[in-house]
Amino acid sequence: MKKKLVSVLMCAAMTATVLAGCGSSSTTTTTDTSSADTSAADTSASNAAETTAATEAAADASADASASGDVLTIGFAQVGHESDWRTASTNSCQTVFTAENGYDLQFVDCDNDSAVQIEAVRGFIEQDVDYIIIDPIVSTGWDTVLTECEDAGIPVIVIDRTIDDSDKYVSWVGSNFKTEGLAAGEWLKAYAELKGIEDINVLVIEGSTGASATIGRTDGFKEIADREGWTILDSQNGDFTQAGGQEVMESYCKSYEGQFNVVICQNDNEAFGAMDAMKNAGVSYGVDGDVILVSFDACTAGLEYVLSGDINADFECNPLAAPFVEEVIQTLEAGGTPEKEVYMSEHWFVNEDILSSITVDGEEQELTVVDQAVVDAQY
Ligand code: AHR
Repeated sequence: MKKKLVSVLMCAAMTATVLAGCGSSSTTTTTDTSSADTSAADTSASNAAETTAATEAAADASADASASGDVLTIGFAQVGHESDWRTASTNSCQTVFTAENGYDLQFVDCDNDSAVQIEAVRGFIEQDVDYIIIDPIVSTGWDTVLTECEDAGIPVIVIDRTIDDSDKYVSWVGSNFKTEGLAAGEWLKAYAELKGIEDINVLVIEGSTGASATIGRTDGFKEIADREGWTILDSQNGDFTQAGGQEVMESYCKSYEGQFNVVICQNDNEAFGAMDAMKNAGVSYGVDGDVILVSFDACTAGLEYVLSGDINADFECNPLAAPFVEEVIQTLEAGGTPEKEVYMSEHWFVNEDILSSITVDGEEQELTVVDQAVVDAQY
């Protein structure tokens, strides 16, 4: 029997307001392009403000839950611990789903193993948890176990990466990975034009194979590369880790010596590894180097390298999903129907103040020049 919170009706109204601000059910990312004169620090802080609004709304509801003595058990099957982004994502859930807030969080680190992740979900079914959160390592192979969740009457909320072969979950909260890839491509096009760079020869270090983050970023960037006639010399799996990024880049430096002028790393940790490999191979990168270095995630350490000029541009993926997931849960507890898709806002970060915006999918999107305040405001 699922425990129902009876004191969250007011929160449900707040939920609707906050989720509406997140561009739910849109297929377009809600990158914040609202104000041309917004300062960089203000822009960087807007994720925090958005998250704070969601957190406050959900906190009111969970305070009511705690007061009434009800505890909701949440099973969370996390991808692993491969990156700074993943740590921020785990911290987000562990900060929101606390005993103090009226939750019992059952957390499983699946160490990037899909079989372990499926078994973790089955374990949550056996425990008869109230809700299951899944960040799917890969986007396929989910229908059987999601049917088992459905049969057990346990609602599933998907975060971050998408599930592409089943719709048996109540909501998904995350980012538009293809838009991130398109943005990286549009930025590179505009940047190269400004710098007078005509030949673009790209090496891509991909994220884990089968992850929707990898598929979306690869497709988005490739769409622009194909349109512009750039050469993608190679595209290999760095598994979203620093060691993986370094290993792939070491091999690229040998195989493509003197042939590349752009490296696209599909997350910050891969970029850190790629920087080490290029340094060791005597290849210069960043704003003063021979190679333009682009990254995704824009966690604090990534932005520090944007500030120093080692990474030219970093395309954010927002890891702070938990407050929005809590809103989904509280909506369900109140008997409401949450949005099927909740997109969180993201920003694009650059070192040089030479371009104020790019156009992505027909929409003008602001670029944030990184300063220390921007770094300090990030997770
Ligand atoms: O699914 C999100 C991706 O997974 C992040 O870009 C990466 O850092 C993580 O490992």
